Amino acid sequence: MIRRLVIFGGTGDLAGRYLLPGLAALHETGRLSSEFEVVCADRKGHGDEQFREWAATQLDQHAPDISGDTRQAILTAARYRQADIGDPAQVADTIAGAGPVAVYLALPPALFATAIRTLHAAQLPSGSRLVFEKPFGEDLGSARELNRLLADLVPEQAVFRVDHFLAMTTVQNLLGSRLANRVLESLWNSAHIAEVEIVWDETLTLEDRAGYYDHVGALEDMVQNHLLQLLCLVAMEPPITLSERDLRDRKVDILRSIRTLTDEDIRRCTRRARYSAGVIGDRHVPAYTDEPGVDPRRRTETFTEIHLTIDNWRWAGTDFVLRTGKALAADRKEVAIHFRPVPHMPFGHHGTAAPNVLRFGLDPENLTLALTAIGADVDTLVPVTMTARIEPPGLPAYGRLLLDVLLGNPALSIRGDEAEEAWRVVTPIISAWSRDLVPLDDYPAGSLGPTGTRR
Ligand code: BG6
Repeated sequence: MIRRLVIFGGTGDLAGRYLLPGLAALHETGRLSSEFEVVCADRKGHGDEQFREWAATQLDQHAPDISGDTRQAILTAARYRQADIGDPAQVADTIAGAGPVAVYLALPPALFATAIRTLHAAQLPSGSRLVFEKPFGEDLGSARELNRLLADLVPEQAVFRVDHFLAMTTVQNLLGSRLANRVLESLWNSAHIAEVEIVWDETLTLEDRAGYYDHVGALEDMVQNHLLQLLCLVAMEPPITLSERDLRDRKVDILRSIRTLTDEDIRRCTRRARYSAGVIGDRHVPAYTDEPGVDPRRRTETFTEIHLTIDNWRWAGTDFVLRTGKALAADRKEVAIHFRPVPHMPFGHHGTAAPNVLRFGLDPENLTLALTAIGADVDTLVPVTMTARIEPPGLPAYGRLLLDVLLGNPALSIRGDEAEEAWRVVTPIISAWSRDLVPLDDYPAGSLGPTGTRR
């Protein structure tokens, strides 16, 4: 197990909100060695005392349930280094003397190429691992270039292009439900399934992340990675095993089968919008363009909906709808499988049967099946819904991801060819939107989304 983790972007939002709490969860469950250390590095130049206070506040805020021992152990294991990711001497100082290290690049994608070059010059020790926060690159060309640079630095097995959705218990449960139950497989195709909806609607707004989000928007922040990964798990052929090769081979097959959208398809099958001022619950929310750090000229979208077609035997004829938005009226985070209507209704006029829907709730975690039954009055049909709550996760998603990095298991991270295929799907959309082929709509914060959004 690797014993030193170096985080660049080490006092940023991701490190404080997810990475330190993830490490705390590993300590709490006895998975971190007593020699483990985490170096948080960035350009800011904090003093030791200031860093310690920052780290303690992050743990108190984002991991309030950990024991006093764990809190102390993480604060003891953590130290700060001032280092610019473009400066080989400073970077070498963070990785020197510990044997192989894991380097976590919690940085904007525009800095990844510089980071790889610097790590090369800083002589990253052999056996080290590299972790890239999503999105990996900014389009197909830059992802290819990053993969090319990486090939000279470390083997593919040592590269972790993380997507924390893959480590969520509920997402894992999607695999469990599909692959451990015979009853679903015979229905799992376009003959029975009309539409698969993959939805991540958030009430969350920008939350002071303009420095990152205003450069990516909903398409690159969520669709290129999280939502396409969910699509892969729903649609892939059953893998032989869940080992990194078998699982990732099957996911790549699906990404390769997604039809490339033409400009005309993009006009018809994609939407984009940005929130204006509004009220969510009792919160007054300013317009996205009035948030600090946002440049309205970038025309960054905070909502998108995209319809995709999979050109293979199993799925030809099923519509895949991917949707995500910020500052919406309510959270809706789920994968909904909409079955086709029954071929014949022998009940005359006594009722209508809504098509069955199987819902994988991602947050909160549950599994719901909507069926139709006979009501108390035997002549009527009534909807019945069966809901199962899923056990809360043993480890938070980032805890699981960090454990995989330290142990060297890349099964839940994205392989190089997989990242490129995901960009192949999304890059034509970026290009068409930049030419304004699709209007940028508005929706008030706290609404259901732009006019015409389905619920
Ligand atoms: C992140 C996105 O990867 O996922 C955010 O950058 C989004 O914009 C978040 O809000 C959702 O996941 P979670 O686990 O933070 O709810």
